[in-house]
Amino acid sequence: MNKKTIKDIDLKNKKVLVRCDFNVPMDEEKNITDNARIVAALPTIKYLLENNCAIILCSHLGRPKGEIKPEFSLKPVAKELSKLLNKEIIMANDVIGEDAKSKASNLQSGQIMLLENVRFHREETDNNPEFSKELASMAEIYVNDAFGAAHRAHASTAGVAAYLPAVSGFLIEKELQFLGNALNNPERPFVAIMGGAKVSDKIGVIESLLEKVDTLIIGGGMAYTFFKAQGYGVGDSICELDKLDLAKEAMEKAEEKGVKLILPVDTKVGKEFKPDTESKTVAWTEIPEGWEGFDIGEKTIKIFEEEIRKAKTVVWNGPLGLSEFDQFAIGTNSIAKVLSEIDAITIIGGGDSAAAVRKIGLEDKMTHISTGGGASLEFLEGKKLPGIECLLDK
Ligand code: 3PG
Repeated sequence: MNKKTIKDIDLKNKKVLVRCDFNVPMDEEKNITDNARIVAALPTIKYLLENNCAIILCSHLGRPKGEIKPEFSLKPVAKELSKLLNKEIIMANDVIGEDAKSKASNLQSGQIMLLENVRFHREETDNNPEFSKELASMAEIYVNDAFGAAHRAHASTAGVAAYLPAVSGFLIEKELQFLGNALNNPERPFVAIMGGAKVSDKIGVIESLLEKVDTLIIGGGMAYTFFKAQGYGVGDSICELDKLDLAKEAMEKAEEKGVKLILPVDTKVGKEFKPDTESKTVAWTEIPEGWEGFDIGEKTIKIFEEEIRKAKTVVWNGPLGLSEFDQFAIGTNSIAKVLSEIDAITIIGGGDSAAAVRKIGLEDKMTHISTGGGASLEFLEGKKLPGIECLLDK
């Protein structure tokens, strides 16, 4: 990485503002259901503690759209962090208000405070310079470790870097190392697996990956748009009729580039969108009217598996079926299991595929699970990430 990290700057005894991505899932009682993003921030926080810094953490949670909404408070994160570090976390009741400012100015070396949700201010997502300046005024150094939000040009992820020496934390460094190596220097065969509901969300990545991979496997809801593009009926399956041309173009480009593009050959269809709905497996060309495709079928799993077992590098983004319903999680889980067994570099994009891998307890068997959903996609697409561009060059 050509950007400075916390190792490249003297931050001993300094007051440091750290942007994390603590946008974690919670249940209705505000229990955190997956703390991976908080755990991923610990190495940077511990390093800053070792360097006797006074640490001001900030993050967004959800999309409160510029309003103070208690259900989007970061208090549960402070609690979790305190448990993980076995240390008091001082919670500010606001972001740049009196409470945050006075707690920040009294903060001592070795203490940690957490600001309230930066998205309680519309100025955050507007990347307002005055708001960035206010944030910056509380600290001497800015550390961005919010890989999951690095594709957002917001005040706390990018704007603030104009007012303080700005470096990355260990998480961003690690993410760029794994994703960057897979993309630019892959051991071959290099196989990408793309799933998820929509072609429109992934087309940029697909196009960019077609320049790099040996094999591209497509599953999930987006496969039905590819079926339709070839003239077949898809019943009630999710299908983007306005993206048929994009799907066709992707198939043509794969052929041109000599990339093996593999689509499902069978699909598990269900009657209704509910966990225990009646289901059956049909060939991809024979999806009946009134049925909806929810998963890849067994023949497809075998074909995907065979291809994946030959790979030396695999990048996977997006579930291959409706993985929240057990009977339609078989494709996603089977492929996760294959990835956990192979002797290859396995990189899991964040979001739903990461959640699926964790749900079946295979996270330790993967080379790297990204903490970024949208961010990892944009990175794989070859886009510049504002939260990284804004940092000091090495
Ligand atoms: C994410 O969960 O992908 C990040 O935290 C970014 O959240 P956002 O899509 O609301 O900006």
